[in-house]
Amino acid sequence: MGKNILTLTDHRTGETYELPITNGTINAMDLRKIKTHADDFGLMSYDPGFKNTAACKSKITFIDGEKGILRYRGYPIEQIAEKCSYLETASLLVNGELPTKSELGEWTWNITHHTLLHENIKKFIEGFRYDAHPMGILISTVAALSTFYPEAKNIMDAESRLLQTYRLIAKIPSIAACAYRHRMGLPYVYPDNDLSYTGNFLNMLFKMTRPKYEPDPVLEKAMDVLFILHADHEQNCSASVMRGVGSSHADPFCATAGAAAALYGPLHGGANEQVLRMLNEIGCKDNVPAYIKRVKDGGVLLMGFGHRVYKNYDPRAKIIKQIADKVFEVTGRNFLLDIALELEKIALEDEYFIKRKLYPNVDFYSGIIYQAMGFPVELYPVLFAIGRTSGWIAQWQEMLLDPQQKIARPRQIYLGEEYRDCIPVEKAGDPTEA
Ligand code: ACO
Repeated sequence: MGKNILTLTDHRTGETYELPITNGTINAMDLRKIKTHADDFGLMSYDPGFKNTAACKSKITFIDGEKGILRYRGYPIEQIAEKCSYLETASLLVNGELPTKSELGEWTWNITHHTLLHENIKKFIEGFRYDAHPMGILISTVAALSTFYPEAKNIMDAESRLLQTYRLIAKIPSIAACAYRHRMGLPYVYPDNDLSYTGNFLNMLFKMTRPKYEPDPVLEKAMDVLFILHADHEQNCSASVMRGVGSSHADPFCATAGAAAALYGPLHGGANEQVLRMLNEIGCKDNVPAYIKRVKDGGVLLMGFGHRVYKNYDPRAKIIKQIADKVFEVTGRNFLLDIALELEKIALEDEYFIKRKLYPNVDFYSGIIYQAMGFPVELYPVLFAIGRTSGWIAQWQEMLLDPQQKIARPRQIYLGEEYRDCIPVEKAGDPTEA
């Protein structure tokens, strides 16, 4: 192998430059040495959507999009989904290693004992309109937590960071459950410390008049695996927002609210909600070819298909498909699954999708499972946010502790007006006036 050096010739000047290559990247700041004259700002790279820009070094999640590989801290997602609980996975992501039995006990105890919400937070949620979207409630309430825990600003204090980590992982399901019950007009349910993290979440959502809620073990396990599959996905849109907001040293509650807002969009975590709406719109298997035609004509997107990084089957979608079978044994088969399977079959054989390497992503089947489990569509991105919280925290912490990180502040190519003088409105005239 040759030297780790990139030689560039700037044909504007005839100058040649040598740029070191480290970890398969050049340092963007090295481009600035490439100038046409002494006062020139220097060369930049243009990369809308950050398609080819590494903004950080990370040890959390590895993805090989071409091969369909996803690993948390080196462990394949398939093994984690089979052998670990969500709380173990959260500990792995945040702390770097799988916890020992006693570490897991302590971690679980601390998270379990931070699930209660301040009564004023409940009142805050009560203030939302009866039909408020639960994702809007979640985003605002997580931001409001910042006002309840002002010490969270001590972001460089490891103990404080850990406390906010417990609070965030513990309270987001409680907020999510309150948002759901608010919409349903049901009284809020207090956490039950005898239950698992996921079992308690189902309890806070679905407990009615019985004194004790007993989650169905199959559904509890399925939900836990779904949280694991959503826990992290390296520098996705919401994780980048988490790092971006956190880079200004805002507290983790505000940063998490920003990340959740990014997740809400239909191109990101809001896609599972859109998949359900799409499947309902298609209505039956026979209508699938006509819908595929609309997609190919550019009229609509096939929601739950395509991914910025995966150019192969999303490994999470494979696991979710297996969970779906187990869930349907308990809940009964959902007719939407047949439409989804038909869509997938036709799309995977179609030149349009093959050429663009469009495969089902994590959101394609998760919505169908959520529907079978009785969640309203508006809750789907909220469920995604619960699982993703541990990943956001891991990304935020890694960013804070990385001495090379700075406040996130990209450059731009300015193509607007050159210098011009401002004319007061009374002198400017009105082009609509004759
Ligand atoms: N349906 C139809 N065509 C699609 C789809 C889709 N779902 N996704 C991409 N394409 C097409 C584009 O139109 C484009 O075609 P062209 O080359 O003829 O212009 C080509 O495939 C490449 O697409 P891009 O938009 O450049 O891909 P990008 O990496 O920017 O977008 C994204 C990725 C946003 C996920 C996109 O595939 C999409 O919108 N998918 C649907 C929404 C969705 O499921 N989002 C969830 C992603 S998973 C997650 O966030 C957890």
